[in-house]
Amino acid sequence: MKGRETEVAPSILAADFSRLADQIRLVEKYSDRLHIDVMDGHFVPNLSMGPVVVSSLRPVTKLPLEVHLMVERPDEFIDAFIEAGADRLIFHAEVSDDTRVLIGLIKENGCAAGLALNPETPFTGAEQGLDEIDLLLCMTVNPGFGGQGFLEDVLPKIEEANRALTARGLSVDIEVDGGINPVTAARAKEAGASVFVAGNSIFRDKDPAQAARALAEAVGRRSS
Ligand code: DX5
Ligand code: ZN
Repeated sequence: MKGRETEVAPSILAADFSRLADQIRLVEKYSDRLHIDVMDGHFVPNLSMGPVVVSSLRPVTKLPLEVHLMVERPDEFIDAFIEAGADRLIFHAEVSDDTRVLIGLIKENGCAAGLALNPETPFTGAEQGLDEIDLLLCMTVNPGFGGQGFLEDVLPKIEEANRALTARGLSVDIEVDGGINPVTAARAKEAGASVFVAGNSIFRDKDPAQAARALAEAVGRRSS
């Protein structure tokens, strides 16, 4: 079974936007992809960034760019983010009646597709389309803001997802996002997560490179 390689994905939401390229360079060595949080002020009570940030970052790093769409109408933005250079688009199960249609739209453009579940949404919310996604994102905070505390209650859902995916032989990565640091990441890994998004614990550290390295080591990332 392919997939399930341990990966670190720094979330630029917590970075210093006045010098984004420099911040990315600091953590690149210990990172497998960059996580870009898109918020629309409707699905979540906050606004963040759009395709212009993705297209600005595309030439400054070789890392794949993963876009986490916390928006009510992901279908309206798929093309723009793919054109901007996104390598993976993640949308929320809570906003989609037919996840297969969205997954199809994403993949037919050569982009990887991820499905996200809010902490309160059960694993059954991901059943539709599970065999077509590349990644299942289990939010470990309520989406909308960086810097929140890791919700331990999500761990049983990660275990359930891991069991179900393994039983079906599906090579879908399980990602965790929210309150991730070396301690919480190790717990999520035990439960079955393999991709670790971290914003504040990396970019708000006085030494982001060292913080990314510590996270990579805590989750047993290859070549860390
Ligand atoms: C929350 C975002 C997260 C956020 C994580 O809505 O989806 O990606 O940037 O930030 P930390 O790691 O600070 O919880
Ligand atoms: Zn995110």
